[in-house]
Amino acid sequence: MAKKRKIGMWLYSNSGGDAIGKKIITKLKERDIKVVDDINLRHATAQGKNIIHNGTKLNKLDLFFSYNAGEQTVYQTYLYQALNRMIPMINSYDSFALTEDKFQTSFVLRNAGINTADYKLFHRDEAQEELLKTLKKWGGLVYKPTSGWGGAGLSKIENKESIRTLMPTLNQMDTRQVFIEKFIKYDNTDFRVDIVDGQFVGCYGRKAGGSDWRTNVTSGGSVFLREPNDEIIDIAIKASNACGTDIAGVDIIYDQEKEEYVVLEVNGIPAFATPEQEKMGLDFNDKKIDLIVDLIDKKTQKNN
Ligand SMILES: Nc1ncnc2c1ncn2[C@@H]1O[C@H](COP(=O)(O)OP(=O)(O)O)[C@@H](O)[C@H]1O
Ligand SMILES: [Mg+2]
Repeated sequence: MAKKRKIGMWLYSNSGGDAIGKKIITKLKERDIKVVDDINLRHATAQGKNIIHNGTKLNKLDLFFSYNAGEQTVYQTYLYQALNRMIPMINSYDSFALTEDKFQTSFVLRNAGINTADYKLFHRDEAQEELLKTLKKWGGLVYKPTSGWGGAGLSKIENKESIRTLMPTLNQMDTRQVFIEKFIKYDNTDFRVDIVDGQFVGCYGRKAGGSDWRTNVTSGGSVFLREPNDEIIDIAIKASNACGTDIAGVDIIYDQEKEEYVVLEVNGIPAFATPEQEKMGLDFNDKKIDLIVDLIDKKTQKNN
């Protein structure tokens, strides 16, 4: 008889994550897949052939499901990379790392023929010159740290004065790369489209709050019910495929000047709907859970 399948899981527990985790574990059990829960790589160590967490040899698991956006420290990410050399992970380390970086993501999307905001990347020693030149050409830009989330660290550059303000920040950074995007004229709303295993799961919208141009909830934005059209779903699936993500939340806005949808970013750990959002009518959680369970089942099938 084939050995029973066993996977590891690391899922956020706040905002309803706890209940989601329990549902996933129950559904996997029905398929005879055991789950070792709460595997925080922060407390794992490696020795010889093994990466060990609380007595479990993680490298012997059939798969590791990592889904905790708030817990991606340098050490955790370092072991994520090592573990992924030995066992399948959702998302794979490569696609996780890709989606953590805004430039790398846009570069991949563009080469896959997917619309993104026009962008430019350059060394910070050339920043002054490049910013002035590009501002003149584009009229308005957004500076974005290549990693980060929640709209943090983004600044809108509309004139020479804002370049002068930004320069000291750039010079204090550890990183050398400077990433900017053309400021897109849009209606201050976006589409967040969830994809699992190349299939559409659900969509909602976000609207920027007050005078802010960012739709992030942490920047004052609010979530609303929103149906996507076929084109939006198609773009999101293509973006997820291009990034190789098993699970993705694709952020899309409508460029009013070019009259086309553009992908702003691909999130590798998109949150499930919170209990409050579910009350509002966001009802994709069960579908998402089922698709994730199917995917784990599929990826852990043994050919014996
Ligand atoms: N090029 C742009 N033009 C106009 N608005 C933008 C642009 N890029 C980002 N935004 C706004 O800022 C928000 C945050 O940007 P995003 O790239 O998604 O970074 P984060 O990872 O912080 O969410 C977006 O949801 C959108 O509302
Ligand atoms: Mg975003």
